[in-house]
Amino acid sequence: MQKVKIHDKEFAVSIPKTLIEERIAALGRKITEDYAGKQPVFLVVLKGAFLFAADLLRNVCLDCEITFIRVGSYEGTQSTGVVRSILGLSEKVHGKHLIIIEDIVDTGNTMMHLIEELKKSEPLDIKVASLLLKPEALKHNIHVDYVGFSVANDFLVGYGLDYDGHGRNLKEIYKIVE
Ligand code: IMP
Ligand code: MG
Repeated sequence: MQKVKIHDKEFAVSIPKTLIEERIAALGRKITEDYAGKQPVFLVVLKGAFLFAADLLRNVCLDCEITFIRVGSYEGTQSTGVVRSILGLSEKVHGKHLIIIEDIVDTGNTMMHLIEELKKSEPLDIKVASLLLKPEALKHNIHVDYVGFSVANDFLVGYGLDYDGHGRNLKEIYKIVE
């Protein structure tokens, strides 16, 4: 099995590239169908969702807007539970269909906070597309409308996800080897 070392930890491939590509293409087709005739705004949550968003949006055939925000709550391999900042949330989303693009919904703290903030701008509706979902870690009643993969409660890197800043450019999703 293909392994990589990042900082002090070892990781092994968990979701291969071909599977990621297939799943994202399917999500793109679904969003295209669901939003036919509409002009949604996609809100990409940086940094982790940058690769997922790029590949997903190439599979979305709609007249749409794409914008970016930055939030952060992770330090090392444990969620601190504190959402430190939301930067760049100034775009006009009032009266528009919003789709948040995230890399992973873990405890759901980030998504919860983000949705609360976004509601203040009174979009028409808000949906969530997340490449990964950790159902066992979820602490909030959050509905993820478009899920790439439901995964176990393991720490992952690659395809946008990092371990202390590293590993985001890996083509596949890797799982920590305990
Ligand atoms: P939450 O607020 O606990 O749902 O965590 C959300 C954020 O934590 C995600 O957007 C990721 O940036 C980060 N995160 C959660 N799980 C992992 C993981 O397994 N690897 C890397 N980053 C993660
Ligand atoms: Mg993130």
